[in-house]
Amino acid sequence: MQSRPIKLGHVGIAVSDIDAAVAFYTKKLGMRLTERFTYPVEKVGHGVHVRAGAFVRCDTTHHNISIFQLTDPDLSKSDKHRLGLHHIAFEFASPQDLLSKFRQFRDGGVTIVNCRVGGPGNHPRFYARDMDGNLLEFYWGIDQIGWNGLPRAYPPITEIDLEAFDFEAFRREFDETEQRMIAQSANIAGVAVSC
Ligand SMILES: [Fe+2]
Repeated sequence: MQSRPIKLGHVGIAVSDIDAAVAFYTKKLGMRLTERFTYPVEKVGHGVHVRAGAFVRCDTTHHNISIFQLTDPDLSKSDKHRLGLHHIAFEFASPQDLLSKFRQFRDGGVTIVNCRVGGPGNHPRFYARDMDGNLLEFYWGIDQIGWNGLPRAYPPITEIDLEAFDFEAFRREFDETEQRMIAQSANIAGVAVSC
């Protein structure tokens, strides 16, 4: 049985003025800003054309819109440099479902761009292109924003071999970080009570 995404996770958009876009989506629409990020210069990946990102959310998911400031938003160039839709991201329920879709695409001739982990959201993911070249992202395990409104610390963006990626270790680290944050919050509450 083929795996299916459980939801449309987020969309990425390229904007002309990232500060104006953040102000629009937070102040006018009421979304919350999770964090901002500066992309390293890359040969493959968002950093080829994207200089900076801002990540806004509706709920506890790390981001529902990725807002990108392009390095060179020259509208006279190819579509890859245009403003507007940058990518569409789909969430999967499990690493097994994610891997299943990856193998189906790879073996079925769908263009795979790359596989990555780290960076904002820190979700194991792969990127592919649809029949018209639209960039698609598929992921599992995106960071969730807790009581303090802050994202968890994450490693830099790294390309990975999705087939060899240790999802178990990733899940363990995810759970341990969560436990540390719960313990810290308990300590903070304890200090508040003792004061
Ligand atoms: Fe994304």
